[in-house]
Amino acid sequence: MAKNIAVLGNGYVGLLAAVGLADFGNTCVGVDVNQQKIDTLNAGKSPIYEPGVEEYLRRNLDSGRLRFTTDGGAAIRSSQVLFITVGTPQQEDGNADLTYLEQVVNTISQNINSYKVIVTKSTVPVGTNRWIQETIAKSGHIPGVDFDVVSNPEFLREGRATQDFFHPDRTVIGCESSRARTIMEDVYRALNLISVPFVWCGLETAELIKYASNAFLATKISFINEVANLAEAVGADVHQVARAMGMDGRISPKFLHFGPGYGGSCFPKDTAALVQLGNKHRIPLRVVSSAMEANHKQKERMLDKLEILVSRAFTLHTPTYSCNPLEGKTIAVLGLAFKQETDDIRESPALEIVKGLLVSGAAVKVHDPKAMENFSRIFPQITYCATPYDALEGAHAAVLATEWNEYRSLDLPRASQIMSRKIILDTRNMLNPTEALELGFLYDGVGRGSVGNPISQTSSAIHH
Ligand SMILES: NC(=O)c1ccc[n+]([C@@H]2O[C@H](COP(=O)([O-])OP(=O)(O)OC[C@H]3O[C@@H](n4cnc5c(N)ncnc54)[C@H](O)[C@@H]3O)[C@@H](O)[C@H]2O)c1
Repeated sequence: MAKNIAVLGNGYVGLLAAVGLADFGNTCVGVDVNQQKIDTLNAGKSPIYEPGVEEYLRRNLDSGRLRFTTDGGAAIRSSQVLFITVGTPQQEDGNADLTYLEQVVNTISQNINSYKVIVTKSTVPVGTNRWIQETIAKSGHIPGVDFDVVSNPEFLREGRATQDFFHPDRTVIGCESSRARTIMEDVYRALNLISVPFVWCGLETAELIKYASNAFLATKISFINEVANLAEAVGADVHQVARAMGMDGRISPKFLHFGPGYGGSCFPKDTAALVQLGNKHRIPLRVVSSAMEANHKQKERMLDKLEILVSRAFTLHTPTYSCNPLEGKTIAVLGLAFKQETDDIRESPALEIVKGLLVSGAAVKVHDPKAMENFSRIFPQITYCATPYDALEGAHAAVLATEWNEYRSLDLPRASQIMSRKIILDTRNMLNPTEALELGFLYDGVGRGSVGNPISQTSSAIHH
């Protein structure tokens, strides 16, 4: 039987949960503290760029099964299932900041008026769902009114979130009550019908599955990035290394994508929170700590590569140049989002690159198909361009920082005519290096030690 559901927090995860659960036939009310976001959603517009989401949003608003409000109390009172989907950002010490979650738990305690299933979808440290259970039980909620707490971590990928919500590899549900389990089976009936595997487990197990999964994927990326760096030094091609590794069924080709280091709203904060959890329990997670450090170094390495390219070009042509090769140069950065098909810039490698360029005294021109508005809130002082070619015009060097499809087919002959110097750092290996070299570009990518790149000898000397 379809359920009445409140989704508390309507960012990336909450919006997908609200539209997805309504699409499954449930009646959903999405709640957020941000009035502007709620107005936008009720008008059928998505406040975030996520392919396909607006179509689902409109369809379910039109069906009458979905609405949005800022009145969390009323939404809680009228719903049987409450999904918590607020952000759990990273604190300075690496721990997850549970302030928003605590606020929501407080609102639930004050408004619980009948049996509820409280489902945590936010990524929360192990023990948090137990804490929610105890906190609501201890609060002054109406005696005799029962509730259950369920952990249902989210695994969606931004940029492919609708696909992932409707066709997840698995659905993990930490649930210790048969009454709540029956309700969760109803909520997710549509997924059961298409044979999505369900993992039913305890609360702590579900919480740890989420962190362990993200930490493993982050580690896989850091691993292949270090192999890419080694490939540069020894004259190997990381494309072929990763491809052949991925053919081994035990390894799989997924997440063997080398580049400028991982970013996004999840991997950096979830690895940090997992390490903190390990420290708390005196179980050091050395592999995850090393993956985090390697990722940090990988981001720095991109700037080092650019410095080497620029200083090489200017040494060749101008015998005297400033000791900081980027000072006074104009650099075009193509791609600001942490990956393609999203406007999310949280922990994006482009943030580090632009910050480093500004510190070095470079002028920065940027382009991104979707993320410029978000980026401009952090860096209002740089130049935002309508097309990649506007950004490249007059630039001394270009950095390709996000793997947007439109950059894959960048018109290199045109770029070579409009740039002030022909220098490209391709942090996602999107371009054809042979074409770039033939056009006279000084080109460097990641992990391509064997492409006859004049810079590969030099860049292999970067050590941290
Ligand atoms: N973004 C992802 O790809 C992703 C994937 C899997 C899991 N997660 C996890 O899901 C959680 C949410 O992530 P997100 O990226 O959607 O976060 P987000 O920051 O995009 O959205 C959080 C939303 O909660 C709202 N909010 C804050 N306090 C509130 C309150 N008291 N009541 C109602 N709304 C409130 C905010 O206004 C915001 O709209 C996090 O724990 C994250 O780690 C995220």
